[in-house]
Amino acid sequence: MSIVSIAIQKGGSGKTTTSINLAAALHQQGKKILLVDADPQASLSEALGITNEPEKNIFTELSKEIKGENGNLKEVIVETKSGLHVVPSSIELAGAELELVSVYGREQVFTWMLEKLNNEYDFILIDCPPAIGMLTVNALVASQYILMPMQAEFLPLKGVRSFMHHFKNIKKLNNKLELLGFVLTRYDERKIMNRHIFSVLEQEFGEKVFHTHIRNNIQLAKSQEAGTDIFHFDKNSHGAQDYEALAKEFMQKISAAG
Ligand SMILES: Nc1ncnc2c1ncn2[C@@H]1O[C@H](COP(=O)(O)OP(=O)(O)OP(=O)(O)O)[C@@H](O)[C@H]1O
Ligand SMILES: [Mg+2]
Repeated sequence: MSIVSIAIQKGGSGKTTTSINLAAALHQQGKKILLVDADPQASLSEALGITNEPEKNIFTELSKEIKGENGNLKEVIVETKSGLHVVPSSIELAGAELELVSVYGREQVFTWMLEKLNNEYDFILIDCPPAIGMLTVNALVASQYILMPMQAEFLPLKGVRSFMHHFKNIKKLNNKLELLGFVLTRYDERKIMNRHIFSVLEQEFGEKVFHTHIRNNIQLAKSQEAGTDIFHFDKNSHGAQDYEALAKEFMQKISAAG
């Protein structure tokens, strides 16, 4: 079982879109996947059609842990129409994040909760909120890998550089954590800026940059409105092709990292 956080502090980078569609692609390749929505915005839950906030969700279980009781993520897992397993989120998670600050072992709570799933999945993908607060730190402390989706523009690149500083600090809490790589999203080959950022990123981070780019594709946004992943919405779209390619490269990188 590998736990992968999809994280970057910049909003609208494609974290949620990548979590859903990478998970769906890996699921199609026969992998057992759990998606964890660790963002109080609950975009992932919504985009997978989990619209009526379930009575039990990541917040209810985290609250139990905060109170010193035992949370159980197994009980909150929802299976979507397309067969993906999801731990849904809730807006109340924002409050729990504040409470976490004063809890003993506050950075490790997700680790304890996920450990109880003892190897039932090949991959657990955690969709993080766009900030490096207690929720993202908990996700990173529980993870072996971090995957960073970003738009190929100048500001996100600045964000990546500042993130590398946090990354070093988080490694002090979890020395197993490795940067799996950067994925460029909403990519347009015709834009000089996009090609330029790709080459700058490659010069700076080498093999950490995925060769697969996720092209700008409206079908990805539409599939979220429809409450499903891109493969069940439009399997011939660029979005589906790109996420299938990303899943292959993801598996290669995981095997190489051993
Ligand atoms: N490749 C793409 N082509 C077109 N639209 C996309 C693509 N990737 C993401 N989007 C759209 O861009 C918006 C932001 O994407 P997404 O929600 O995945 O980003 P995020 O990093 O999770 O945002 P947040 O930081 O708010 O959690 C969404 O409306 C999504 O549908
Ligand atoms: Mg998101």
